[in-house]
Amino acid sequence: MANAAGLSEIKSGTEMYMTLYPEGSTDKGLRLGNIVPDFKADTTQGPMEFHTWKKDKWAILFSHPADFTPVCTTEIGRLALKYDSLAAMDCLVATLSVDPVKSHTEWLTDVVAHCENKIEIKFPIIGDSDRSISTAYGMIDPGTSGEQTLPLTIRAVFIINPENKLMLSLNYPACVGRNMDEIVRCVKALQLSYKKSIATPANWPNNHEDIPMGEGRTTDYKGSVFLLPTVSDEEAKANYPGFHTCDLPSAKPYLRLVKAEVVGGEVGGEKKPVDETAALKAEIAKLKAEVAAKPAAGCCTIS
Ligand code: BEZ
Repeated sequence: MANAAGLSEIKSGTEMYMTLYPEGSTDKGLRLGNIVPDFKADTTQGPMEFHTWKKDKWAILFSHPADFTPVCTTEIGRLALKYDSLAAMDCLVATLSVDPVKSHTEWLTDVVAHCENKIEIKFPIIGDSDRSISTAYGMIDPGTSGEQTLPLTIRAVFIINPENKLMLSLNYPACVGRNMDEIVRCVKALQLSYKKSIATPANWPNNHEDIPMGEGRTTDYKGSVFLLPTVSDEEAKANYPGFHTCDLPSAKPYLRLVKAEVVGGEVGGEKKPVDETAALKAEIAKLKAEVAAKPAAGCCTIS
């Protein structure tokens, strides 16, 4: 895509998609694209100033409704098991509930025991007894105060980028525990579109294994990603070689797949082996059809 000066302006997925949402909020609500509220709090690892603690990193802020409850106990344990993978992706983790830090610390012994003592809780757990952070982040009704025991915070996940923008949020009720693999997948997808001019399809990286790409397809597009609609074909050829434009009834060329290897992304989960016999059979059928369509200029049969 060329700008007014005729220069190429190839935007990352984050830059392109975040132009859809404003940075500021007009009603104190927190929505995607907004700069997340800063706060000071006590945590199980000492005092925290959120933006200072986060610096220029990715971060997950993860809330749970209450300490000493069953689903929350499993969630904190399972999140702890993902901590090292997230740290390797330069993504910090902090969790929060409206219980005081003393309660968090006592509860963590149970959390660790319930994971057969195989985990260490390496992230801080914020005590939000006055409910100010929960309110600022929209996890609880703004009319509640520290004098109340109810309502509790929802199960929220906020994934925040290095510029402190809210990139993704998930909201779950108390009765449904979250899937930590999905949270890690979201961070991976966000980090990929932060660097490249791409967006990830449904079920990525387990996508496009069986999509029709023409007869005799031998290329595996599992785990591939979409080029942004703002990337011109010239830019795509220069920056993302080998992309595949899917045929559609509309004939509009908007489904342009790039293989994961080209963007440095994860190659999709378990791969089905490419069926070479089926590809050869399809190629023979195509040749036969071509020969059959030609006027007989002699004798030629393929069997
Ligand atoms: C839980 O199981 O995590 C839970 C139960 C009741 C209220 C809040 C959380």
